Amino acid sequence: MERDFLCRYGVYQIYPISFCDADGDGKGDLKGILGKLDYLQSLGIRTLWLSPVYPSPMWDMGYDIADYFNINPIFGTMDDFDRLMEETKKRGMRIVMDLVVNHTSDRHPWFLKALGDPSSPYRDYYIFRPGKGKERKTPPNNWTSTFFGSAWKEVPNEKGMYYLHLYSEHQPDLNWKNEAVYQSVKKIMEYWMDKGVYGFRCDVISEIYKDSLEDGKKGSLSKPIGSEHYIAKRGCHQILKRLRKEVIEPQNGVLIGECYGVDRNQAKDFLGDELDTLFGFEITDPGLLRRHMRPKDLKRILISWQDLSCNGNYFENHDQHRAIGKYVREGPFEKEGAKMLIALLCSLKGIPFFYQGEEIGMKDYRSLSLSDSHDVVRKFLDAFLKGYFVPKPLREYLSRKYGRDDARAPMAFTSQEGHGFTKPNVQPWQKFNELSDRINVAVQEKDETSLLNFFRQCLSLRQSDDALSLGNIHFLKSDPEVLLFLRLKGEEKRLCVFNLSEKEKVVPDVIIENNTKTLLLSNYYQKEIEESLLPYECRIYKVV
Ligand code: GLC
Repeated sequence: MERDFLCRYGVYQIYPISFCDADGDGKGDLKGILGKLDYLQSLGIRTLWLSPVYPSPMWDMGYDIADYFNINPIFGTMDDFDRLMEETKKRGMRIVMDLVVNHTSDRHPWFLKALGDPSSPYRDYYIFRPGKGKERKTPPNNWTSTFFGSAWKEVPNEKGMYYLHLYSEHQPDLNWKNEAVYQSVKKIMEYWMDKGVYGFRCDVISEIYKDSLEDGKKGSLSKPIGSEHYIAKRGCHQILKRLRKEVIEPQNGVLIGECYGVDRNQAKDFLGDELDTLFGFEITDPGLLRRHMRPKDLKRILISWQDLSCNGNYFENHDQHRAIGKYVREGPFEKEGAKMLIALLCSLKGIPFFYQGEEIGMKDYRSLSLSDSHDVVRKFLDAFLKGYFVPKPLREYLSRKYGRDDARAPMAFTSQEGHGFTKPNVQPWQKFNELSDRINVAVQEKDETSLLNFFRQCLSLRQSDDALSLGNIHFLKSDPEVLLFLRLKGEEKRLCVFNLSEKEKVVPDVIIENNTKTLLLSNYYQKEIEESLLPYECRIYKVV
């Protein structure tokens, strides 16, 4: 089963503009990825998820698609893509495309036609409504955009008429109540499946179906006003069931859903005959005024989402801060902490997702200034808060916290100029992380104890171990900051312990008392200490 393949082997996300630049324009490209397939293979990676590579004005870094059937020239050509398909296939690797169909770019021909001619059939591809009030000056409802401010934009040259955009005004929402939209998206998916891609990571898929356009109740930073009218609606489930049956199943593909705003109970409804797995968001939020997630919160969230038949387990992606500093504290034990997180992803039930650079412990780019930022969220939030006279330090804190630059710095392969990402003397599209001289692939290749080599060890253990990759999970009682669980498959039993904190902890009795255990993996090199778990220590035992 395809889901089992993902559970066993995991998925590696590539953010193409920041992965590897082969043509020397400072932006990563498909040829760059091609040149790094040996590296990816050496990590044990079998499935690559590519963030969008389609033509796009890049308002939202490609999550605003202007043509679903082509490749953005900054990333190369369709020939490059076909080559990448061929080379990955040869290596037994698979490619998952990002599919962004909650909205298109405002430069997409459908939208241009819809704007140009109100009687065009493309008008109903989007959600246009007249404003309220005598002069229609008030937007059709009170919904706010995930990117702040009203979710409606007045149509240029059509006074009093608005279109809906849950993200930026350059990302008009599609109208999924229109069957023609369904048929068009189906064609897009079939086109890429016919090219041999393995499936799709479906962007903000939980919100494609707008049940009603009534005013919303209260909103918050993580729940825009109005979201109760479009998150996880029946119509969305029906669409996913149909797409799965008509496009994905006939070709043995996979569907991975980004389920923004969905709680754990709603999440369950998406699995089975809709998505293979999904990303929830509870794991991303340490709390409004925190940068670091408390170990006990991490434990609670991890345990509760393991309830799902197949959760998408992740700590990092292109929208989130890096894990070091967020789930483990920066400082003397950060390396052990980063190792612990990788081992955790490789031990939990579900599908492990890794983000480029996570394997070497890349850190947030903390000193990137607002003027060097390419992220719409950071810019919009700053502008929005200015309108409310929020004091500068708080504004900076919030735009930093919700801004998404930190994990988008170019990948660091070497210490040399260009860091193996691009040629020497070339300005990368986004500044290199200030730590790239120290934290890069080449440095860690040489070090037996590096995170990179530990990553290989963890992934290879999971891949060869049915209990860890496919077994059931059973949590055992333990210290509030220690995660203790069994993975069970047939006769096979693994006992896993993770100290989520940087404090020393007592080794749980179940470990001390068991004398039929063998240690399969640990993130400390010295002999395990019987009575204490060191900061961020993790151990995986085979138990007979
Ligand atoms: C998803 C993407 C994010 C994008 C948003 C709108 O959350 O991961 O990068 O900005 O959708 O498409």
